[in-house]
Amino acid sequence: MKYLHGFGNHFESEARNGILPVGRNSPQNVEGGLYAEQVSGTPFTAPRHRNLKTWLYKISPSVVQGRFTEVGHPTWISESSRGRFQKTPEALRFHPYPENSSPMDFLDSIFTYAINGDLYRNSGMAIHLFSFNQGMEARYLYNADAEMMLVLERGEIEIHTELGVMELSPLFIGVIPRGIKFRITMKPGSSPVRGYLAENFGSPFQLPELGPIGANGLANPRDFEVPCAGFESKAGDFELYARYQGSLWKAPLSHSPLDTVAWHGNYVPYRYDLRKFNTINTVSYDHPDPSIFTVLTSTSPVPGTANIDFVIFPPRWMVAENTFRPPYYHRNVMNEFMGLIEGAYDAKESGFKPAGASIHNAFTGHGPDAEGFKKAVGMKLDPVRYENTMAFMWESSFPFWPAEQAMKRPGLLDQNYADCWQSLPRTFR
Ligand SMILES: [Fe+2]
Repeated sequence: MKYLHGFGNHFESEARNGILPVGRNSPQNVEGGLYAEQVSGTPFTAPRHRNLKTWLYKISPSVVQGRFTEVGHPTWISESSRGRFQKTPEALRFHPYPENSSPMDFLDSIFTYAINGDLYRNSGMAIHLFSFNQGMEARYLYNADAEMMLVLERGEIEIHTELGVMELSPLFIGVIPRGIKFRITMKPGSSPVRGYLAENFGSPFQLPELGPIGANGLANPRDFEVPCAGFESKAGDFELYARYQGSLWKAPLSHSPLDTVAWHGNYVPYRYDLRKFNTINTVSYDHPDPSIFTVLTSTSPVPGTANIDFVIFPPRWMVAENTFRPPYYHRNVMNEFMGLIEGAYDAKESGFKPAGASIHNAFTGHGPDAEGFKKAVGMKLDPVRYENTMAFMWESSFPFWPAEQAMKRPGLLDQNYADCWQSLPRTFR
């Protein structure tokens, strides 16, 4: 599968040679009987460097569809769908999310863990786990509330979008902009699929500033991959689902909405291989703040205060001398949701498993468990390479409200999480 490379570029792609308006052709005067439709991810008047839009050349414009009815969703919940949430300053950890064994597609399998911020005011996020074993065949979805980031933990999928198809396997993330229609299928031969999903109600993810790091490093723009145009020309009975104001709506369709034959713009879905992250870290002493691992950030109006930072902890060399190498104990005004894609996490070598999760809200202390602390203080500080590990964090300026369905689901919440620190010895002399 071919991809366009870059981040924030004005891309263009066509699935039929010569159909994209070029030269003296107006973008709105389309060849080949297609309809021009602009999809805007920012207000028209957003500053040029933040302005996001794409021109789609579609077989049918989006106005050709049946009427929406609100259908809701039993486990993809929000405050507006009367989902129940708790507020707690406790450190929380969840065991791995169990795989669904009954037939289920991506949309049906979304299970909300936590929400924060306020989707009505374009801030904060929701976090879900998903586990499915079937493709969305005649069902399409768009999310008017949020940009969606998928972090795949198991299985292989194809995300069919209005702009083309992108493949995802574990260690890739995929981002689908607000309002872009898509369906998710399993790659032929894929094992059941599991992963984490973020809904970003705030500003779209962008690359972080690099400051003194310079022009290169962290996630490099050329490593982001955007699908090439590809379209479905299908008539029949289809369902279009819309996530809108925290609830799910459904409308009948007599054609596939993924009927964009060509497009140009910078409002695009993309994928990124986390193994390509250029990790920057200390070569002298101490454990730098985890912001050095930021892949993407959703900014807020307050400088340096993210709506969401997406941060990873990839395989890397640890060489710090004369120090305590693991993450330090800390309390933080920000709010942290962590997940694990593969391997183990250095602050918690047992107890935190792939498809598990932890939540540490504002000023809730956390850090290495007693076992990890003991190992770290006794360790000879030779250079060592951390292999087979990929933890990640969504860090937000808004406290997470865990969903009761996650807190109360039998076997999911680790009831003894805080015990992992209680045997830390008093060693003051
Ligand atoms: Fe932390």
